[in-house]
Amino acid sequence: MSEIEKLKSELKNINAEYAKIKDLPPEQRGEFGRQINTKKQAILAKIAEAEEALESENVEPIDISAPTAPNQPLPEVKLGSKHPLMVELKRVIEIYSDMGFNVIEPNQLDDEFHMFDSLNFAQGHPARDGYDTFRTSEGFIPPAHTSTMQHRALMKYKQDLENNGQIAVVVPGRVFRNEDADATHEHTFYQCEGVFVSKTANMGQLFGVLKRFFELYYGEQLELRTQPGYFPFTEPSAEFLIEKPASLGGKGWLEMGGCGMIHPNVLKMAGIDPEVYHGFAWGGGIDRLVMLKYGLSDVRYFESGKLDFLEEF
Ligand code: DAH
Repeated sequence: MSEIEKLKSELKNINAEYAKIKDLPPEQRGEFGRQINTKKQAILAKIAEAEEALESENVEPIDISAPTAPNQPLPEVKLGSKHPLMVELKRVIEIYSDMGFNVIEPNQLDDEFHMFDSLNFAQGHPARDGYDTFRTSEGFIPPAHTSTMQHRALMKYKQDLENNGQIAVVVPGRVFRNEDADATHEHTFYQCEGVFVSKTANMGQLFGVLKRFFELYYGEQLELRTQPGYFPFTEPSAEFLIEKPASLGGKGWLEMGGCGMIHPNVLKMAGIDPEVYHGFAWGGGIDRLVMLKYGLSDVRYFESGKLDFLEEF
């Protein structure tokens, strides 16, 4: 008989004792009853204890002796590092923020209106072919340039024209093109767009902003050069080049992006009166900015995911 069974039969006997109460003389009944109660409680407690012990016995024991050594050095872990483009993008944003520009991020999937129509690309105009990008089956477009954000930037900060007399926004972000990749072309790269509007905005200010930006980025004085360009969303339009920084042993000029005075139609579409306000805009590649800074010869490293490349930074 198990321990519990023994206790249970003892309990049965005790319960039987209650029947004897009625045969006792009344003055003894109270005392007798109390005695049985006490015995009964003691047995119930023992039964509970035995049952609990049995339950624990049935549970598989776990190993609580696992070693913990809080003072031991951790096994060697290889830490990751920030991607060089992200580090430099942060620097670009910092420079423009210090110059007073608001910063917004572009959509990574956009639409026909923002990619072309809002930028004054006429329907069927060959200029659309210059931005050969991808399309989803629903007709969405991974943007081929950060200019897709011009209309949104103008709409979002339009109120600033009345409040502060100007709109000043930059849009750093990722863009996509249907390119045959080689050392200087990638299907995925980064650009930074700039948009400025005021009553007196002009090309001189545009070139001043660009020159200042490059000088701050490379930490030295350098020359900016422009040549005529064509973009449907600016009139006049230009391409800008910088003199390779002397500290990087550079000689010659490097094309950095496109710019111009915002086309009146682009302002109008955002509800800004081009008779009252003027604007300039520019867009430049971030990858080549960084390639020049670090003397990299192949743009494809950035998207390659090659650890030996990333570990150099
Ligand atoms: N979005 C143009 C490109 O990727 C560059 C550009 C040209 C941007 C002129 C501008 C601009 O904002 O005004 O080729």
